[in-house]
Amino acid sequence: MSSSESPAIEPTGVDAATVDRLVTEAERDFAAATTSEELKAARARHLGEKAPLVLANRAMGHVPAALKKEVGARLGAARARVGQAHAERLEAIAAEELGARLAGEWVDMTLPVDLVPTGAPHPITALMEQLGDVFIGMGWEIAEGPEVEADWVNFDALNISPHHPARATSDTLFADPVDHHLVLRTHTSPVQIRSLLTRPLPVYIVCPGKVYRADEFDATHVPVFHQIEGLVVDKGITLGHLKGTLDHLADVMFGGVRTRIRPSYFPFTEPSAEIDLECFVCHGASVGDPEHPCRTCSSEGWIEWGGCGVVNPRVLTACGVDPEIYSGFAFGMGVERTLMFRNGAQDMRDMVEGDVRFSRSLKGGAR
Ligand code: DAH
Repeated sequence: MSSSESPAIEPTGVDAATVDRLVTEAERDFAAATTSEELKAARARHLGEKAPLVLANRAMGHVPAALKKEVGARLGAARARVGQAHAERLEAIAAEELGARLAGEWVDMTLPVDLVPTGAPHPITALMEQLGDVFIGMGWEIAEGPEVEADWVNFDALNISPHHPARATSDTLFADPVDHHLVLRTHTSPVQIRSLLTRPLPVYIVCPGKVYRADEFDATHVPVFHQIEGLVVDKGITLGHLKGTLDHLADVMFGGVRTRIRPSYFPFTEPSAEIDLECFVCHGASVGDPEHPCRTCSSEGWIEWGGCGVVNPRVLTACGVDPEIYSGFAFGMGVERTLMFRNGAQDMRDMVEGDVRFSRSLKGGAR
């Protein structure tokens, strides 16, 4: 029913023309809003507490009873249209704003980037971890000790007498002042002593670490290098256990090469031996064959790898271990040497210069 057909008089503000105008104004304002902020302000004007269409409700009291239903329906429908217009505009603006934001965040994945050079694990570090892993795989533990060591631990407890050439100042770097009896450890063997003094028996440990000697700096010597030390002390340990352990290590590191041990001398082992690796280049074929010399083993067929032996009872005694009950074996080899054989690194100086291309070329010490 339209107002023109109504016999009663409507109060101004709720007549059809006014209501239509209010709706049109609201629709126009919503359409003109281009941001959600502007739309919010327009919503407050047309649907907020003070909006004419909302205030019109109050005029309902003055509407003659006969017209109440019609005017009420008109106002309701008008508010619904305004609400609908607002909702549609809100949706459109939200979509526009999202589109604009996404466009702003767009990234061209095909643009060339400045490549930051990445580092590489140092082959010595990587190799020490691999060596350690071989023993962890057998249930051994990694042990550590200080690089500045008491000379008693570095020498005396290992049965290295005060007059042993290894103690001469030409080899050993002493920490100042000398009467404090501290040295930069010359080998990883002092970790044997520390392990026996602090760990419960039996002991199965390896210690990869840095050692220091007053050496030349050339292709085959650096004053700071690395060793890996092994120590087992348990009941009934024999040279056979030592040989089996080193064979396993050689097998993992070099793949299928034989080892041999030949007599030698170290103060802390008795008997002592050198452990040699079968040359994994010529496998001994170059021996006595001047036509086909082998650079790797100098046609010897074997490569010297490290020292080893049965732990000297004097060492056990110095650490309070009863040699009548316990026996053990120990070994120590150079990590740089191992890397040279395994990866064909020719010059030890490359290992300290820190050129990442060297590290990359050795693929982090992988075989
Ligand atoms: N400490 C010795 C060195 O630096 C290497 C070594 C030899 C370690 C025999 C041992 C061993 O544990 O039993 O030359």
